[in-house]
Amino acid sequence: METKFKIFQSKNILITGGLGFIGSNLALSLVEFGANVTLVDSLIPEYGGNLRNIEPIKDKVRVNISDVRDEHSMKYLVKGQDYLFNLAGQTSHLDSMNNPHSDLEINVRAQLFILEACRKHNPDIKIVFASTRQIYGKPEYLPVDERHLLHPVDVNGINKMAGEWYHLVYNNVYGLRASVLRLTNTYGPRMRVKDARQTFLGIWIRRLIEGKPILVFGDGKQVRDFNYVDDVIQSFLLAAASDQANGEIYNLGADDPISLKDTAELLIEANGGGTYEIVSFPEDRKIIDIGDYYGDYRKIRSQLGWKLVTPLAEGLKKTLDFYRQFSAHYWEPDYAS
Ligand SMILES: NC(=O)c1ccc[n+]([C@@H]2O[C@H](COP(=O)([O-])OP(=O)(O)OC[C@H]3O[C@@H](n4cnc5c(N)ncnc54)[C@H](O)[C@@H]3O)[C@@H](O)[C@H]2O)c1
Repeated sequence: METKFKIFQSKNILITGGLGFIGSNLALSLVEFGANVTLVDSLIPEYGGNLRNIEPIKDKVRVNISDVRDEHSMKYLVKGQDYLFNLAGQTSHLDSMNNPHSDLEINVRAQLFILEACRKHNPDIKIVFASTRQIYGKPEYLPVDERHLLHPVDVNGINKMAGEWYHLVYNNVYGLRASVLRLTNTYGPRMRVKDARQTFLGIWIRRLIEGKPILVFGDGKQVRDFNYVDDVIQSFLLAAASDQANGEIYNLGADDPISLKDTAELLIEANGGGTYEIVSFPEDRKIIDIGDYYGDYRKIRSQLGWKLVTPLAEGLKKTLDFYRQFSAHYWEPDYAS
């Protein structure tokens, strides 16, 4: 264990969205550090929560199936916690357009419940909030740094922006220590791969394992940056462990931004075979697409010492290996197509 993470030993830690992709991977690390981990998750079927995600630690964590919109549960759950990793969220951009009120309830109103619960019942807690690069909208320049204007292109972006600013205001006004990470495309074992509801990379992985062509929207030239989940977990731990991070916003990002077409080719190579097709952008997705994006992550690197460890090719291979082994727990085979 890295010495700086010894501070989590025997600490009480609450992870909202703890049965989801990033939350469960975070729980795996924290259990390894000897922390007392409680996971709260609503297991709404359309989202990324899956009890299977915590299989290796299922006897070592407390799981509370409740909704962060439940003010009373949150009041009870934050009591006695040393750290809160606040990851519960509605994450689908398309769903946020089709059902804007649910997104508002989860990504905004519930965040206020959580923060109020902390302010009133546990003002000494340290919070790390999972925000998103989506709030920048279509970049005006690349790479995008933290000073870039925020002009979200979808309802999810607006609501996540409000969620993160509530955290900052509670830090600044009430001294409730909170740090914000603006995540970019995170991938790895335990991500939701069932359908195209969340990231395109998830459904690409499923289709490749099922021997179907990957569908690349547009011309495939859109540039993105990808972070392997273990690297992202490090950023959460570093932000939690650092007082310098209180009240700060940090972009994540990668050194090797890559086009979607090249990503598809890399994934096929990591899989040892497969094909992709360039298809036209579905209109409902195109209208909220942000075009090219990659983040400038120099701030978190210089202030918190965040390092990227896993190259994309290696991370993709590890992810494919995981789903090849455990696909039965992540999707039902589709015999029709
Ligand atoms: N994965 C990415 O690339 C990415 C990028 C940017 C930001 N983020 C942010 O990181 C966080 C975690 O994302 P993820 O990729 O692990 O997604 P995920 O869907 O796998 O995890 C989110 C979890 O939150 C839970 N949840 C949703 N609504 C809830 C509610 N009302 N009450 C309790 N639990 C609820 C879901 O069941 C799910 O398990 C999210 O807040 C997301 O906005 C992720």
